[in-house]
Amino acid sequence: MSDREKRTAGESAAALVRDGMVIGLGTGTTMMYAIKQLGELVRDGLSILAVPTSHETEMLAIEEGIPLTSLWKHTSLDLAIDGADQVDSKLNAIKGGGGAHTREKVVACSAKRFVVAIEENKLVDVLNHPVPLEVLPCAWKFVETQVKELGGKPQLRLAQKKDGPAITDNGNFIIDVDFGKIIDPLKLSEDISTIPGVIEHGIFTNINEVHVGRKAGVDVLKRKIS
Ligand code: A5P
Repeated sequence: MSDREKRTAGESAAALVRDGMVIGLGTGTTMMYAIKQLGELVRDGLSILAVPTSHETEMLAIEEGIPLTSLWKHTSLDLAIDGADQVDSKLNAIKGGGGAHTREKVVACSAKRFVVAIEENKLVDVLNHPVPLEVLPCAWKFVETQVKELGGKPQLRLAQKKDGPAITDNGNFIIDVDFGKIIDPLKLSEDISTIPGVIEHGIFTNINEVHVGRKAGVDVLKRKIS
């Protein structure tokens, strides 16, 4: 899968941004394309404020000249855009490949509309990607035992140099948990949320719209209101 699908999906989500909006900016390589696109629009006169979801996104947004704000100042956002690791046919997603899912979820839940951009190969019928859990460092072994009881196979995420655990922007560890096929993402999401020491998990059930980058262009999938 080339980067072209990722880029067209990211840029398609960025095209939803309108003058005067306060938006959430997700994290990752797809968002990098969206942020660069927004940077160009800002240089051409678009007036927006953005809440970043990670240090990485904050740095890129500053480089691109996108004015930033925070959820302290703007508690409600017009739109949040982000990437994902996997999306199912009902538009549930797994995020957190970059370890930023806690802030991403807070930002997404603060937005009136949450739009995700992915390349085609991330779209599946049933989610089966390992679920990232941001956990308090002191609780990681305890959390491992708890997720095993839920049927998961946990793996502590290591830093890139493999010289210790990966550390999130919030100073915590990440455990990636393989649950196999996730038939009921909402139930699993609720079960994981009850485990003490889990700060946030990467199952997202609040997506309004997914922009899928394909060879032939971008498909927009909208959540059906049930
Ligand atoms: C960051 O923690 C993640 O939630 C990303 O949004 C997700 O991993 C998608 O990343 P890419 O756009 O780099 O594939």
